Amino acid sequence: MKFKEVYGDNTDVRVFFAPGRVNLIGEHTDYNGGHVFPCALTLGTYAVAKKRKDRKLRFYSTNFYKLGILESSLDDLRPDEAEGWLNYPKGVMWAVEKKGFKIPCGLDIMVSGDIPSGSGLSSSASIEIVTGMTLNSLFDFGMSNQELALIGQYSENNFNGVNCGIMDQFAIAMGRKDCAIFLNTADLSYEYAPVILKGAKIIISNSNKKRGLSNSEYNERREECEMALTELQAGMGINTLGDLNEELFEQIKMAIHDEDRRKRAKHAVYENQRTIKAVQALKNNDIAQFGRLMNESHISLRDDYEVTGEELDTLVEKAWKVEGVIGSRMTGAGFGGCTVSIVKSEMVDEFIKRVGDAYREKIGYSAKFYVVEIGSGPCEL
Ligand code: GLA
Repeated sequence: MKFKEVYGDNTDVRVFFAPGRVNLIGEHTDYNGGHVFPCALTLGTYAVAKKRKDRKLRFYSTNFYKLGILESSLDDLRPDEAEGWLNYPKGVMWAVEKKGFKIPCGLDIMVSGDIPSGSGLSSSASIEIVTGMTLNSLFDFGMSNQELALIGQYSENNFNGVNCGIMDQFAIAMGRKDCAIFLNTADLSYEYAPVILKGAKIIISNSNKKRGLSNSEYNERREECEMALTELQAGMGINTLGDLNEELFEQIKMAIHDEDRRKRAKHAVYENQRTIKAVQALKNNDIAQFGRLMNESHISLRDDYEVTGEELDTLVEKAWKVEGVIGSRMTGAGFGGCTVSIVKSEMVDEFIKRVGDAYREKIGYSAKFYVVEIGSGPCEL
């Protein structure tokens, strides 16, 4: 087994898995007190771990095998940009200790994942949750999966400097097979909704455009929303943009002075309402309406939130033209990454061919397509 090859000894190893996620609708609402509707994927990250007798930490990723074994220590849990992916497991270890748990000994860890990195399917949150799960199980910390999600988010915010919301870690830690999670990020109340797409499939199209500078742009969008909220709050009893519906927003929106900021807030308000309507449509078996709301979500992310870009717009706009496409939109943070589409089963091959060809022709390189299934949450194997 690979672990033995890398570390020389695989006695008493334990193996854990955490999925990736795709968000069906409810984008950039999770740090605005709104709703999201993500689901776990069967793609994910595996971690093989073994306790050590000292405080050393050794990491190896089959995805970044060229880096070899990377060493650190429980006494040196500090972020270091040069260490790349290592900042995610290290960040979770740091966060676990911050929350009052003591990691008693070092570990040898081997990580292996099949989520394309930088694609917006949360490979980083998946590593965070698989690390949390590993620590929780090896050292009997007794944390719930929801606590693991919060620790993952805490580490991403405070160790890795990305001011993300709770969606990714929650979707991964709380995933359930064949269901999406209707989560209210204002109070973390949630409900599982079966995704029954009679005769249709979920296709993820990876633009292969890396998200690049996205972290700073992500944080910037968040700040714009926070500022807009402060402007709206003067004289209004609201806590988040998620407290507003469309009508109320239209009545008070001129309290936001800057036009761009007004557009960002509009997206947050309307997207939240769309998410609530989309889940209702799904419950009513009205997949066509669910698809229309997905399309509207993309338009809002393109025109008001401005996080799509030519690659994602091309994938979505080509998809809309293919017969049998029920809905298509960008998913995740944006600025590159993936789109999610619901496509009639008999049109899947045609979809991949037509969207793929048109994308290559316009953008100059290829997209990649995944017909995905909704998977379960994290587990020990
Ligand atoms: C990223 C963040 C999430 C969420 C999405 C946008 O995936 O990690 O918290 O804000 O972007 O919906």
